[in-house]
Amino acid sequence: MSTIAAGVRHRPQERKDLWWLEPTVIVVVLGTFVLYSIYAGLANANYFFEPYLSPLYSPCLTANCVHPTLPLIGSYWNLSPAILIVAFPLAFRVTCYYYRRSYYRAFFWSPPACAVPDVRKGYAGETRFPFLIQNLHRYALIFATTLLIFLWWDVLLAFNFGGHFGIGLGSVLMLANVILLSGYSASCHSLRYLVGGYLDSFHGKSLRFRLWSWANALNARHARWAWASLIVVGLTDLYIRLLSMGVLTDPRWVPGT
Ligand code: FES
Repeated sequence: MSTIAAGVRHRPQERKDLWWLEPTVIVVVLGTFVLYSIYAGLANANYFFEPYLSPLYSPCLTANCVHPTLPLIGSYWNLSPAILIVAFPLAFRVTCYYYRRSYYRAFFWSPPACAVPDVRKGYAGETRFPFLIQNLHRYALIFATTLLIFLWWDVLLAFNFGGHFGIGLGSVLMLANVILLSGYSASCHSLRYLVGGYLDSFHGKSLRFRLWSWANALNARHARWAWASLIVVGLTDLYIRLLSMGVLTDPRWVPGT
């Protein structure tokens, strides 16, 4: 039996494997995504290229939107419309059980890896503010899942080129993005619990059992859904941004108009 499996805690320098690789990759990928999203969300430009709407700006809730989805907010709102919706997907990701494990390790070094000690002496868990609010994850799930309805609607529009059906690289990218985001939500630990995790017995509850089984199957790959959806949502915005700026041209396999 290895010393790690036996529960012996090593100093970082005592572990000979590349234990630092995972936290480093997480810092790079998560850090890049956060910085890019701040830039893209505040830019308030280049988020729409007919018929593609960036997922970071959907639903577009202000009358000033280049492509308003649901103009609930009047033209007095001059800031980026992304600011009005970013809290929901952000809260969903930040409170996600998997991301918590990842960023506690990568950014807080609490602990940085298995069998590597915490950098801090005390450990309060999630029993105090601000980490106490991590317990609101199930509510974040409801809001973030509601946003998926708008994203699916945007995907339908992404195949509509001036009233004609067409397929461009942007259409495919937006479809992949919404499938990955849906998979990420459907594989959520809280959803698994909501559909049947709290029942003592599935007797006479075959639908619950089926939903719970599907949620379990998806949940086993939750980390993959989390990373793939994060990366593709950023790439989708970047692609639409570059199209809108005239840097790229959208390849069309079915031309539409
Ligand atoms: S646990 Fe990751 S989204 Fe719910």
